[in-house]
Amino acid sequence: MSFTVTTPIYYVNGAPHLGHAYTTIAADVMARHHRQRGEEVFFLTGTDEHGEPVVLAAERLGVTPQALADENAERFRALAPQLGASNDFFIRTTDSEHKAGVQRVLQTVKDNGYVELGRYEGWYCPRCADFKTENEVEDGSKCPIHHIELTRESEENWFFKLSAFQERLEALYAEHPDFVLPSTRRNEALAFIQGGLQDVSLSRGAKLQWGVPVPWDPEHVFYVWFDALLNYYTALAYARPGEDLTERFWPADVHIVGKDILKFHCVFWPAILMAAGLPVPKHILVHGYLLLNDEKMSKSLGNVLDPFTIIDRFGVDALRFYLLRDVAFGGDGEVSAEAFEQRYETELANDLGNLASRVSAMLVRYRGGAVPVVGALDLSEDFAGLADEVAAGIDRGELTQALEAIWVRVRRLNRYVEEQAPWKLAKDPALAGELDVALATLVEGLRAVTVLLAAYLPATAATLLEALGAPDDSWAAAAFGAGGVTRVEKLAPLFPKHDAAPA
Ligand code: MSP
Repeated sequence: MSFTVTTPIYYVNGAPHLGHAYTTIAADVMARHHRQRGEEVFFLTGTDEHGEPVVLAAERLGVTPQALADENAERFRALAPQLGASNDFFIRTTDSEHKAGVQRVLQTVKDNGYVELGRYEGWYCPRCADFKTENEVEDGSKCPIHHIELTRESEENWFFKLSAFQERLEALYAEHPDFVLPSTRRNEALAFIQGGLQDVSLSRGAKLQWGVPVPWDPEHVFYVWFDALLNYYTALAYARPGEDLTERFWPADVHIVGKDILKFHCVFWPAILMAAGLPVPKHILVHGYLLLNDEKMSKSLGNVLDPFTIIDRFGVDALRFYLLRDVAFGGDGEVSAEAFEQRYETELANDLGNLASRVSAMLVRYRGGAVPVVGALDLSEDFAGLADEVAAGIDRGELTQALEAIWVRVRRLNRYVEEQAPWKLAKDPALAGELDVALATLVEGLRAVTVLLAAYLPATAATLLEALGAPDDSWAAAAFGAGGVTRVEKLAPLFPKHDAAPA
């Protein structure tokens, strides 16, 4: 079985921020989870380097677009491992192989009769050297960036006949009700399609030279969105030297995207693939925005919460946990340093960290570290069906609910410690058998939740499973009762307490 998951490719006109980290972390949880299930995974991320905004940002900085792209692509490339992301490839749309792939696929789209010459008419900004959409225009006729009067101009352009795909897209949505997840986003995309599709501009004229040249008309470059979307497909041909992964990993299983880019992924992308005679992806999973003081975080607003600071102070697992736990995946959610620290203290340090410390300390104290062999464990009912429930949740893109299902058991184990009070059982030799069951149950519960958490908290899970001497993190090992722990050493705190934030 193969599984292909992607993040959007990130614009290089700015530096990485928490919003980008969010999409990458979500995709990584899916990639790791499917590896646990024994599937062959291809996890793709990268950078989107062409188009107007990069040219403008480079101009402002007095560098070439290529130099700016090189610099920022490096920062995004470096971000992935810092987030614990296990991507199999990092694509840059300036890669020559990608450019050739774009030309090949879009030439096929043209050969199949879905491209025609048309006039693009709209609001033009001479300082941006670009057309603005009706939605972008400020005060009816002004540039949203330069705040100057726009002129009404038209340009000869190649158009993609999106309108020819209305029925095929409606059929796709009808036959695959889970093509777009969650269903609220599906309804939004479907409403857009049913509202009637207009043909869309596929190229930009000679004014803009930073892009992939249109092979049948080298005066034009492809509109950056079509160049960008194709990354998901072109990467497979050259991600692994000497091997073409396309057959094995296309169509993609899941494209993870933010809600701002829904139209491109849920409408344009399947249509372009259909026009090229290629299979469409199985799912598009749309998430919401991380909000900081109620605003979508973005470069322009300058209110960016720095993921690197959090990682430096608390470790990457704490960031991964917080983002997927605090903001219900799919919806929008407020994020803040206070809420982060609260979750860190109460859930990571207390619920999970203390559980691990207490269990290991009690094992060492009462049984010299040896895990008692007992007939039947307690709590089997609490864990029954949990691994399937978590897997099903992740398959539906419900990353927060799946994490909550695991956390319910983390809390259950903590309650069990209080209920059994092993320190009391230890006082009465007649209760040695009960103490054995309690200790064996706790160790097994801790091991099972750790395997379930491995996709979310990879570094923590690796440390903990190693310390338990049961490194198997396959999905089969996620079952309560799969066992494997015989000895436990005293554990150092997994999530050390932090004093007041440094100035
Ligand atoms: N280059 C395009 C994507 C092309 S994919 C073929 C793009 N790039 S982006 O850098 O602007 O955004 C990339 C992703 O980051 C998007 O999914 C976007 O939704 C996400 N985020 C950027 N800011 C965000 C938040 N504040 N919150 C959550 N995600 C947001 O769009």
